[in-house]
Amino acid sequence: MNIDKLVKCIPHMKEILAVVEKAFENYDDPAHDISHVLRVTESASEIAIHEGADLETAVLAALLHDIKRPEEDVTGMDHAECGARYASQLLDELGFGSQLTREVSEAIKAHRYSSETKPFSISARILQDADRLDAIGAIAVARVFSYSGKTGTPLHSSKLKRSDSYNGYSSTAINHFYEKILKITPESFWTKTAKGIAENRYRFVVQFLEQFLSEWSGIEISVSDFKEIKSHER
Ligand SMILES: [Fe+2]
Ligand SMILES: [Fe+2]
Repeated sequence: MNIDKLVKCIPHMKEILAVVEKAFENYDDPAHDISHVLRVTESASEIAIHEGADLETAVLAALLHDIKRPEEDVTGMDHAECGARYASQLLDELGFGSQLTREVSEAIKAHRYSSETKPFSISARILQDADRLDAIGAIAVARVFSYSGKTGTPLHSSKLKRSDSYNGYSSTAINHFYEKILKITPESFWTKTAKGIAENRYRFVVQFLEQFLSEWSGIEISVSDFKEIKSHER
Protein backbone atom coordinates (compact mmCIF):
# COMPACT_ATOMS: atom_id res chain seq x y z
CA MET A 1 0.00 0.00 0.00
CA ASN A 2 1.46 3.41 -0.80
CA ILE A 3 2.34 5.98 1.86
CA ASP A 4 -0.58 8.33 1.01
CA LYS A 5 -3.07 5.52 1.57
CA LEU A 6 -1.32 4.45 4.79
CA VAL A 7 -1.52 8.04 6.11
CA LYS A 8 -5.30 7.80 5.71
CA CYS A 9 -5.74 4.47 7.49
CA ILE A 10 -3.13 4.35 10.29
CA PRO A 11 -3.75 6.55 13.37
CA HIS A 12 -1.11 9.29 13.93
CA MET A 13 0.72 8.19 10.76
CA LYS A 14 1.03 11.79 9.52
CA GLU A 15 2.61 12.98 12.78
CA ILE A 16 4.98 10.02 12.95
CA LEU A 17 5.96 10.50 9.31
CA ALA A 18 6.82 14.14 10.06
CA VAL A 19 9.03 13.03 12.99
CA VAL A 20 10.84 10.50 10.76
CA GLU A 21 11.31 13.05 7.95
CA LYS A 22 12.82 15.46 10.48
CA ALA A 23 15.28 12.80 11.70
CA PHE A 24 16.52 12.26 8.12
CA GLU A 25 16.71 15.95 7.24
CA ASN A 26 20.23 16.76 5.92
CA TYR A 27 21.21 13.06 5.93
CA ASP A 28 23.25 12.73 2.74
CA ASP A 29 23.38 8.95 2.29
CA PRO A 30 21.18 7.95 -0.69
CA ALA A 31 21.47 4.26 0.26
CA HIS A 32 19.95 4.73 3.71
CA ASP A 33 17.91 7.92 3.45
CA ILE A 34 14.18 8.57 3.99
CA SER A 35 13.30 6.98 0.63
CA HIS A 36 14.69 3.65 1.94
CA VAL A 37 12.43 3.99 5.00
CA LEU A 38 9.39 4.71 2.83
CA ARG A 39 10.09 1.75 0.50
CA VAL A 40 10.48 -0.55 3.51
CA THR A 41 7.22 0.79 4.95
CA GLU A 42 5.31 0.13 1.72
CA SER A 43 6.85 -3.37 1.40
CA ALA A 44 6.00 -4.13 5.04
CA SER A 45 2.38 -3.12 4.44
CA GLU A 46 2.14 -5.42 1.40
CA ILE A 47 3.67 -8.35 3.27
CA ALA A 48 1.39 -7.77 6.29
CA ILE A 49 -1.72 -7.71 4.08
CA HIS A 50 -0.74 -10.91 2.22
CA GLU A 51 0.29 -12.72 5.41
CA GLY A 52 -2.84 -11.67 7.32
CA ALA A 53 -0.74 -9.88 9.97
CA ASP A 54 -1.57 -6.66 11.82
CA LEU A 55 -1.09 -3.78 9.35
CA GLU A 56 -0.70 -1.05 11.98
CA THR A 57 2.11 -2.84 13.84
CA ALA A 58 4.00 -3.73 10.65
CA VAL A 59 3.74 -0.20 9.23
CA LEU A 60 4.75 1.61 12.44
CA ALA A 61 7.72 -0.71 12.98
CA ALA A 62 8.91 -0.14 9.40
CA LEU A 63 8.40 3.62 9.53
CA LEU A 64 10.44 3.93 12.73
CA HIS A 65 13.01 1.16 12.16
CA ASP A 66 15.93 3.35 11.04
CA ILE A 67 15.00 6.58 12.86
CA LYS A 68 18.29 6.51 14.79
CA ARG A 69 20.43 5.56 11.79
CA PRO A 70 21.60 9.16 11.06
CA GLU A 71 22.70 9.44 14.73
CA GLU A 72 24.55 6.12 14.57
CA ASP A 73 26.86 7.57 11.91
CA VAL A 74 27.87 10.31 14.34
CA THR A 75 27.87 8.59 17.74
CA GLY A 76 28.47 4.93 16.80
CA MET A 77 25.56 3.75 18.99
CA ASP A 78 23.41 0.83 17.79
CA HIS A 79 20.49 2.31 15.82
CA ALA A 80 18.35 -0.80 16.37
CA GLU A 81 18.65 -0.60 20.18
CA CYS A 82 18.20 3.19 20.35
CA GLY A 83 15.43 3.17 17.73
CA ALA A 84 13.52 0.53 19.71
CA ARG A 85 13.64 2.67 22.89
CA TYR A 86 12.70 5.81 20.96
CA ALA A 87 9.73 4.13 19.23
CA SER A 88 8.46 2.75 22.52
CA GLN A 89 8.47 6.20 24.12
CA LEU A 90 6.92 7.93 21.09
CA LEU A 91 4.07 5.42 20.63
CA ASP A 92 3.38 5.48 24.37
CA GLU A 93 3.13 9.30 24.30
CA LEU A 94 0.77 9.13 21.30
CA GLY A 95 -1.53 6.79 23.23
CA PHE A 96 -0.98 3.51 21.35
CA GLY A 97 -1.77 0.36 23.35
CA SER A 98 0.98 -1.39 25.33
CA GLN A 99 0.90 -4.58 23.23
CA LEU A 100 1.35 -2.75 19.90
CA THR A 101 4.04 -0.50 21.40
CA ARG A 102 5.97 -3.51 22.76
CA GLU A 103 5.70 -5.41 19.48
CA VAL A 104 6.90 -2.44 17.39
CA SER A 105 9.79 -1.85 19.76
CA GLU A 106 10.85 -5.53 19.76
CA ALA A 107 10.65 -5.67 15.95
CA ILE A 108 12.93 -2.63 15.62
CA LYS A 109 15.40 -4.07 18.13
CA ALA A 110 15.63 -7.30 16.09
CA HIS A 111 15.60 -5.79 12.58
CA ARG A 112 19.33 -6.17 11.86
CA TYR A 113 19.91 -9.53 10.21
CA SER A 114 23.37 -9.80 11.77
CA SER A 115 22.02 -8.97 15.24
CA GLU A 116 22.06 -11.46 18.13
CA THR A 117 18.39 -10.57 18.76
CA LYS A 118 16.31 -12.79 16.49
CA PRO A 119 12.85 -11.79 15.20
CA PHE A 120 10.27 -14.09 16.81
CA SER A 121 6.98 -12.25 16.23
CA ILE A 122 5.32 -12.01 12.82
CA SER A 123 5.76 -8.18 12.94
CA ALA A 124 9.50 -8.55 13.56
CA ARG A 125 9.82 -11.04 10.72
CA ILE A 126 7.86 -8.79 8.35
CA LEU A 127 10.12 -5.84 9.20
CA GLN A 128 13.29 -7.84 8.61
CA ASP A 129 11.92 -9.19 5.34
CA ALA A 130 10.85 -5.73 4.10
CA ASP A 131 14.23 -4.23 5.05
CA ARG A 132 16.16 -7.05 3.33
CA LEU A 133 14.02 -6.83 0.17
CA ASP A 134 15.50 -3.34 -0.30
CA ALA A 135 18.97 -4.96 -0.32
CA ILE A 136 18.33 -7.03 -3.49
CA GLY A 137 17.01 -6.10 -6.95
CA ALA A 138 17.53 -3.04 -9.15
CA ILE A 139 17.25 -0.50 -6.32
CA ALA A 140 19.78 -2.50 -4.33
CA VAL A 141 22.24 -2.35 -7.23
CA ALA A 142 21.81 1.45 -7.29
CA ARG A 143 22.25 1.58 -3.50
CA VAL A 144 25.51 -0.41 -3.61
CA PHE A 145 27.08 1.89 -6.22
CA SER A 146 25.79 5.00 -4.53
CA TYR A 147 27.38 3.88 -1.24
CA SER A 148 30.63 2.98 -3.05
CA GLY A 149 30.68 6.45 -4.60
CA LYS A 150 30.20 8.02 -1.17
CA THR A 151 33.07 6.01 0.34
CA GLY A 152 35.39 6.25 -2.68
CA THR A 153 35.35 2.46 -3.25
CA PRO A 154 36.34 1.22 -6.76
CA LEU A 155 33.66 -0.37 -8.96
CA HIS A 156 35.70 -3.51 -9.59
CA SER A 157 39.24 -4.81 -9.73
CA SER A 158 40.42 -8.32 -10.47
CA LYS A 159 43.42 -7.59 -8.20
CA LEU A 160 41.32 -6.91 -5.09
CA LYS A 161 40.17 -10.33 -3.92
CA ARG A 162 36.85 -10.86 -2.21
CA SER A 163 36.66 -12.38 1.26
CA ASP A 164 34.39 -15.24 2.32
CA SER A 165 32.63 -13.31 5.05
CA TYR A 166 31.51 -9.70 5.19
CA ASN A 167 33.06 -7.68 8.00
CA GLY A 168 31.40 -4.33 7.33
CA TYR A 169 33.80 -3.35 4.55
CA SER A 170 34.20 -4.47 0.91
CA SER A 171 37.25 -3.58 -1.20
CA THR A 172 35.13 -3.04 -4.37
CA ALA A 173 31.44 -2.62 -5.18
CA ILE A 174 31.41 -5.93 -7.08
CA ASN A 175 33.07 -7.73 -4.15
CA HIS A 176 30.25 -6.38 -1.96
CA PHE A 177 27.74 -8.31 -4.05
CA TYR A 178 29.60 -11.56 -3.42
CA GLU A 179 30.36 -10.86 0.23
CA LYS A 180 26.87 -9.66 1.22
CA ILE A 181 24.15 -9.19 -1.42
CA LEU A 182 24.23 -12.69 -2.99
CA LYS A 183 23.85 -14.18 0.50
CA ILE A 184 20.37 -12.59 0.72
CA THR A 185 18.81 -15.61 -0.99
CA PRO A 186 15.02 -15.99 -1.42
CA GLU A 187 15.11 -18.98 0.99
CA SER A 188 16.57 -16.79 3.75
CA PHE A 189 13.37 -14.70 4.02
CA TRP A 190 10.81 -15.51 6.70
CA THR A 191 7.49 -14.97 4.94
CA LYS A 192 6.12 -16.66 1.82
CA THR A 193 5.21 -13.24 0.37
CA ALA A 194 8.77 -11.89 0.73
CA LYS A 195 10.28 -15.12 -0.63
CA GLY A 196 8.15 -14.66 -3.79
CA ILE A 197 9.25 -11.03 -4.30
CA ALA A 198 12.87 -11.92 -3.49
CA GLU A 199 13.10 -14.56 -6.24
CA ASN A 200 12.64 -12.01 -9.01
CA ARG A 201 14.97 -9.46 -7.41
CA TYR A 202 17.68 -12.03 -6.71
CA ARG A 203 17.59 -13.22 -10.33
CA PHE A 204 18.04 -9.62 -11.48
CA VAL A 205 21.17 -9.17 -9.32
CA VAL A 206 22.70 -12.36 -10.75
CA GLN A 207 21.95 -11.20 -14.32
CA PHE A 208 23.39 -7.78 -13.56
CA LEU A 209 26.65 -9.29 -12.26
CA GLU A 210 26.96 -11.58 -15.28
CA GLN A 211 26.46 -8.64 -17.66
CA PHE A 212 28.80 -6.35 -15.69
CA LEU A 213 31.62 -8.89 -15.58
CA SER A 214 31.25 -9.82 -19.25
CA GLU A 215 31.46 -6.13 -20.24
CA TRP A 216 34.40 -5.59 -17.90
CA SER A 217 36.46 -8.43 -19.33
CA GLY A 218 35.32 -7.40 -22.82
CA ILE A 219 36.79 -3.93 -22.24
CA GLU A 220 40.05 -5.43 -20.94
CA ILE A 221 40.38 -7.63 -24.05
CA SER A 222 39.58 -4.83 -26.48
CA VAL A 223 42.07 -2.45 -24.80
CA SER A 224 44.92 -5.00 -25.00
CA ASP A 225 43.98 -5.82 -28.62
CA PHE A 226 44.08 -2.13 -29.41
CA LYS A 227 47.60 -1.81 -27.89
CA GLU A 228 48.78 -4.77 -29.95
CA ILE A 229 47.43 -3.26 -33.19
CA LYS A 230 49.17 0.05 -32.37
CA SER A 231 52.54 -1.66 -31.70
CA HIS A 232 52.30 -3.52 -35.04
CA GLU A 233 51.68 -0.23 -36.83
CA ARG A 234 54.99 1.21 -35.64
FE1 LIG B 1 18.54 -0.51 10.08
FE1 LIG C 1 16.60 -0.20 6.98
